[in-house]
Amino acid sequence: MSNTATLATLSGSNLSADPNWWRQASVYQIYPRSFSDSNGDGLGDIRGITAKVPYLKKLGIDAVWLSPFYPSALADGGYDVDDYRDVDPKLGSLADFDGMSAALHAAGIKLIADIVPNHSSNRHAWFKEALASPRGSAARERYIFRDGLGPDGGLPPSDWESVFGGPAWERITEPDGTPGQWYMHIFAKEQPDLNWSSREIRDDFLKTLRFWSDRGVDGFRVDVAHALTKDLTEPLLSRVELSLEGTATDGSHPFWDRDEVHEIYAEWREVFNEYSPPRTAVAEAWVHASRRGRYASPQGLGQAFNFDLLQADFDAGAFREIITRNLAEAAVSGASSTWVFSNHDVVRHATRYGLPKGGGRHAKGQDGKGWLLAGAPAGELDAGLGLRRARAATLLMLALPGSAYLYQGEELGLQEVTEIPDAARQDPAFFRNKGVEIGRDGCRVPLPWTPDGASFGFGDGGAHLPQPAWFGRYAVAAQDGAEGSTLEFYRQALRLRRELQGAEELEWLDTGNAGVLHFRRPGGWQSVTNFGGGAVGLPAGTVLVSSGPLDGRLLPGNTTVWLR
Ligand code: NOJ
Repeated sequence: MSNTATLATLSGSNLSADPNWWRQASVYQIYPRSFSDSNGDGLGDIRGITAKVPYLKKLGIDAVWLSPFYPSALADGGYDVDDYRDVDPKLGSLADFDGMSAALHAAGIKLIADIVPNHSSNRHAWFKEALASPRGSAARERYIFRDGLGPDGGLPPSDWESVFGGPAWERITEPDGTPGQWYMHIFAKEQPDLNWSSREIRDDFLKTLRFWSDRGVDGFRVDVAHALTKDLTEPLLSRVELSLEGTATDGSHPFWDRDEVHEIYAEWREVFNEYSPPRTAVAEAWVHASRRGRYASPQGLGQAFNFDLLQADFDAGAFREIITRNLAEAAVSGASSTWVFSNHDVVRHATRYGLPKGGGRHAKGQDGKGWLLAGAPAGELDAGLGLRRARAATLLMLALPGSAYLYQGEELGLQEVTEIPDAARQDPAFFRNKGVEIGRDGCRVPLPWTPDGASFGFGDGGAHLPQPAWFGRYAVAAQDGAEGSTLEFYRQALRLRRELQGAEELEWLDTGNAGVLHFRRPGGWQSVTNFGGGAVGLPAGTVLVSSGPLDGRLLPGNTTVWLR
């Protein structure tokens, strides 16, 4: 009997065997180091997650997406992986992982693991071997090594910049102590890019996919899915020639979104289909909308993130255009659409929407508008307005056909933490852009579970990123059972979504008001959002849930309501 079968038996019959379970799932992202700390060392861990499974079940989500939990020096929050088939001892053990997986499954919750194929960490056994081996060796071929330019090779092979700032090449010292070759890193220098033209790398990742699938992982979130294959034929073009900050839309860029990358995902799909139900995957691919469907095709990963709503202002016209376009694109690719407002890379949406237009969004790197690093919120924050809009946007999202991705803490209405002292910051984006970019730590501060006490209930010790005094107000215990709290609102909306969800169809209804969006789903379920400031009349129907208080049959501004 395979591990999968064992776990399925252990976990009872609560887990859906439907191969399409992911199509309209609500998926809750856990950033493990900041979720719940079971041993008081200040770092969230796997047992901390297991202890909170009842909380997750009550929230009403269908799946958990677990950000990287692998052994890591945390140079990039765990996206620098030392070993793809193990658990970071700081977070627990493989046995703890199995316990968490079984507990989630017993609660009817699927588990999606983050997989990071573009780069390993510089502490991975492969990279250590590459450093200890000579130029041209098989060990160096697993990465992207090049000789430098200039008479002594002291200049990087190209002027490319890394996504986190600074050069995309780092020089090594050869085993004999002399200054040596350079290796490519699209992200931090602790994240050397792997060479995906190597059959050994490809096979090893297939092994990793099976390793976790056998342990009961139901799906994968694929980090930087669009960067794996590279064409670094010399001479390497300069940054200006490539317009690295621009979007490559024809597959000709040397590393972003090349067509050959899909050969890799076709192989992955064969592995996914060895399982029942087939393992799922969602691509993190910051590519032009016209090319997103390739990642989402049933012959590939099956689904791809669409970050369009996350990048938009709170604006009816923008929302409608994005929703219409993405549903049409999903229909062509055969995937269901994905929706997301917050994740571990961006300013929380309750804060973005409380800032002047465009606030909290800092375009950097991947395609000039795609990569959102959490920049210092500029201008005045109206936290109350931000939260009202965030709740309205979320309720609208939960009514859309497709999968909804939620980020831990948004169900508490958490705001971005801006008051982190420089000395406490961890994000490489901060260190590589000193004085320009404050990085993404503000959305990664450990969750408040209780209004007071050590680390607001996160653990018995401290919290690895400082929690502000106002966190207590947002604590789970402060909102649990409290009428009108954001937590109770999420619970209600997620429960109703499960009950109401039908075919993946949406029909726009005319409102005669450009600031109001109204649509109907099969079964008569309707969602109305008033993006404007003034109240508007409610259409006919019974109110099921609203993102904020209604005024009789009036829908106030910045509010969404579901009707039937
Ligand atoms: C995308 C991840 O979401 C982000 O957190 C990480 O820094 C980069 N990929 C590099 O792995």
